[in-house]
Formats: sequence, structure tokens, C-alpha cells
Amino acid sequence: MAVDQGTGTATAALQAERERWVSASVSTQPLFVERAHGARITDVEGREYIDFVGGIGSLNCGHTPEAVVQAVQEQAARYMHQMYSVVQYPEYIEAVKRMCACHPGEGPFKGLLLNSGAEAVENAVKIARYATGRDAIVCFDQGFHGRTLLGMSLTSKPMPYKKGMGPYAAEIYRAPGPYPYRGISGEQALEGFRKLLKTQIDPTQVAAVIYEPVQGEGGFLPAPDGFIQGVAEICREHGILYISDEVQSGMGRTGTPSAIEHYGVSPDLATWAKSMGGGMPISGVTGRADLMDVVHPGGLGGTFGGNPVSCAAAIVALDQVLDPDFQAHAIAFGADLRARLDAIAERHPQVVGEVRGLGAMLAMELVTDRETKEPAAAETGRIVALARERGLILMASGLYSNAIRVLVPLVATEEDLDEGFRILEECLADAFAGR
Ligand SMILES: Cc1ncc(COP(=O)(O)O)c(C=O)c1O
Repeated sequence: MAVDQGTGTATAALQAERERWVSASVSTQPLFVERAHGARITDVEGREYIDFVGGIGSLNCGHTPEAVVQAVQEQAARYMHQMYSVVQYPEYIEAVKRMCACHPGEGPFKGLLLNSGAEAVENAVKIARYATGRDAIVCFDQGFHGRTLLGMSLTSKPMPYKKGMGPYAAEIYRAPGPYPYRGISGEQALEGFRKLLKTQIDPTQVAAVIYEPVQGEGGFLPAPDGFIQGVAEICREHGILYISDEVQSGMGRTGTPSAIEHYGVSPDLATWAKSMGGGMPISGVTGRADLMDVVHPGGLGGTFGGNPVSCAAAIVALDQVLDPDFQAHAIAFGADLRARLDAIAERHPQVVGEVRGLGAMLAMELVTDRETKEPAAAETGRIVALARERGLILMASGLYSNAIRVLVPLVATEEDLDEGFRILEECLADAFAGR
């Protein structure tokens, strides 16, 4: 592609093509990549951006990590696709082995590979229903579990994920999710779960609960201490399976391979995707071996699930996630990000309601008034747009679309972070100017 330095005409031409051909239902920004490496993206105008979104958590190892690129190239030259149910290949087994090593607890664990986070969620639910012979699934407010019919049914934000696309999947029950900043403590949420099992569905009918240890789309809400432990205990009492959705929070984002590890709970099943492929599309489910073997042969799988090229990439990415040095780096990196966000919050106390998260999965929730906590959705949107103009890629999240999330690749340099946070703070100040 010809690079049109600085004039914006290449972007304008591509944007016109996009509008002509690509469904308007896919939300996009007017930004087209030419190449990317580490935490930096160069667009078709030759402009460089610092990427604080990382494909929404898919690029913990950065853009085009050399070892992943090499593995992809080598694998693509040998064979690109088989369909695992037709002809097996060792890369699938090696990827699953490493994914199982990410599942916290004693084991033995087993796994299977799929294509996307939503597909992993679908499969975890199928396994849980089959294993328990029960139908109901309990999910939580602020949860996001994908855009398939079941995924959106489990998701708690109607706009944009559900509106107009019902009827939703049956036998989904939603309990309050903890959100201490907005008045729902871990204890209250736990009480809400207990109440749901009295008022809406008998626990003997519940196959599983599904919960993200750090709710991502919901606004980067880490589970308060005691909540996951409490839910898991109730589950154990009633034979309900616990599914940890690690699609966004897993793969070293919080320092450990899974985020639930911070809470000392071993889930029965876990879902993985995003950064697992080092930028390639792959996902999976891990779980107790007895559960993972319960569905009859042919009941799970799919044409491209665990594609060999994606597996080759995942093997490299998973080796990195499992490397204690990488984990130590992720923890230090997260502490650095937290300090930078806290410093911004201190300098802008009226509008930064809260900085929160776990490890390097962090966000700040913005408000128009610290006392009333009125969500600053419009200003947050303005920050994202201003940042793009100034060379920083940002994305909002949260029930009220007023949280700026930081999912910058864990390989970002000091210079990337200095520049990125400088732009972020400038845009914040400008978006709230006059307040
Ligand atoms: C926690 C969680 N679960 C599931 C999904 C769905 O993943 P995918 O978009 O790969 O289907 C996401 C995506 O953001 C997610 O954050």
C-alpha cells in the first residue's frame, strides 16, 4: 500500500471503501494500519501511534513479536490447515498442554481448542450442562461473554450488544456483580447470588456460574476479596460448576496466567482467548479432566478450532505467559501503570472517580462530578477521539462507557509509556477544560 505522508488522503479513500463495502454494524475508527510492532502502530499516512488498547487485550506480547512471527511463517510453510478431527497434528497437543498449565489448581486438567472467546464460552457452557444434566447458567451484572447468541445472552450491557437481537438464549439468570465504586460491595453481590438461588432458580437446576475475575467490558472491575471464594463455596455446596472467563483477564495480563489465581480458587472450567495466540485467532477451554471428557466424541470441536498456524503462535505466546521472568515483568509493569494512573488521578481529582484493576489490567472511571459520580461518557468519547488525533489509541469501556482502559502490550517501552500517558493526560485536561 502506498503511504501518503500526512495528507490523510489514503485514510479518506479507505474509509470511503469501508463505508461502501463493510457492514456499518461493525464499529470502527477512521484509522488504517500499515504495519505494527511492539506497542506502536504506523498508519497508512505514515503516522505513528502508541497503542494502549492492544487489540482489546489480544496483544500482551506486543504487535508482531519476532518469535511468534517466525513460528507462524515456519508452520504456514509446512501445513496451514487439517481440521483436527480429520488429521491430527502435535501442535494442537502442545498448545493444549500449555493452556492447561495456565489453569490454576492441582489438576489433572484437559482442554480443547476453538477460534474465539465467545466460542470458548459456548463450549464451557455445553460441557457444564452435559456434565451436570442441568440447564441453568448464572452470570453477573457488568459481565461480558461475547457476541454469539449465548454470549450476548450472558452479557449484561444491552446497548450495543443485545438490543434488537433477541430472543435470548434460555435459562440464563443474572445476579448482581460487585461494583464497590457504585455501591455494590462484594458482600452485597454475594448476598444477591444467594437470593437469586432462592427467588429465581433452585440451585439443583443450575449447571454453572460464569464470571470474569476482572470484568473487562463492564469497566475493569476486579472481584473484591471474598466474592469469588464465596461464590465458589456456594457452588461446591450445590454441585454447581464454576467457570472462570479469562478471555480478557488471562494470559499474564494481571501478572499470573489466570486472574482467578489471585483469589486462590481453582475453577472447574476456564475460557481462554485473546492474547493466547500472540495475535493469531485461537481460543480454548480447560477444566477438570473428568469434565472435559464427559461429552461424547464429536459433541465438541469445529472446522478451524486449533488451526495449526494459530497453534504454532500460541505455543510461543503461552511459553512466554508461563515464564516466571515474564510474569515478574508483568507485575512490575502493572505497578508502573498503576502509579502513572494514580498520579493522573491526583492531578485531576474532580474528574477521575476511581483508578482500579488488577496487575496490568487497569482503567480509570471518569465522572463529571466526584460527589454525584455522574458518568462522563461524552468526555470519555472526546478523550478517545482527541488521543487518536495526537497519536495515542485508546478505548472506553464500562457500563456507562466512561472508563478509559489500559491494555497496552506488556512489552511497551518506558518511552512508549511516557509519551502515551503524556498524551492521555493532555487529552483528559482538554476534554474537561472549563470544569
Ligand atoms: C471476558 C470476555 N469473554 C468473552 C469475550 C468474547 O471474545 P471474542 O470477541 O473473541 O469472541 C470477550 C471479548 O472481549 C471477553 O472480554
